[in-house]
Amino acid sequence: MKAPFISFEGGEGGGKSTQIQLLAKYLREKGQDVCITREPGGTPGAEELRNLLLNGSPDRWDAWTELMLNSASRRDHMIRKVVPMCKKGTWVVSDRYVDSSRVYQGLVGGVPLVDVDHLQFSMLKLPKPDLTVLLDLSVEQGMERVKKRHIQVENVGQKKEDRYEKKGLYFHERVRDAFLQLSALEPERFIVVRADQSVEDVAVQICAEVNRRWSL
Ligand code: TYD
Repeated sequence: MKAPFISFEGGEGGGKSTQIQLLAKYLREKGQDVCITREPGGTPGAEELRNLLLNGSPDRWDAWTELMLNSASRRDHMIRKVVPMCKKGTWVVSDRYVDSSRVYQGLVGGVPLVDVDHLQFSMLKLPKPDLTVLLDLSVEQGMERVKKRHIQVENVGQKKEDRYEKKGLYFHERVRDAFLQLSALEPERFIVVRADQSVEDVAVQICAEVNRRWSL
């Protein structure tokens, strides 16, 4: 038995983690086992790579190095967690996956998309997700939400921005366009949901799509 593997993608502040929790709740109510995970990270080794990727100055790594670090993290995550979970019948829902590399290091970072794809799919033999949910939000609204989140965590004394959030507005506009471009290339795999709606409305659309595909 093989359970589905679903990825969530999008720029900053689109509410991925909230929506992942709500989808997992829905699936569990339908009697499914669910594993929530994230990239970069998701296994002990991959989380170590995550620290290297997210901390430090924005230009700490060039796009190719970033691609290699993300891919190393992803390979560990896939073979140790995602694939075994799906095989035993547990749904896996990941906060980011291969499309993040295709966007951040590829279309925006400058590594040719064919090279990113060759590394992911031909060399590392990584599977495509069964469904990718793209939460699409204007950059202004996304940044606004990220700022609010920081004000909340600052009050409890945690760190502020990561490397990606320090990059400018123009960078985030390109990220948004690139995700939309990839979704248009694979309309079967992606659903694009406008993230400027209420949390409940977004969740209803995602659950309806999952139900449509897998008749829960
Ligand atoms: P995270 O704090 O998880 O960000 P978010 O809340 O926006 O999901 O940080 C992950 C960052 O890493 C995010 O800005 C995107 C970036 N990233 C890549 O550049 N390439 C990748 O392959 C992945 C998985 C993430």
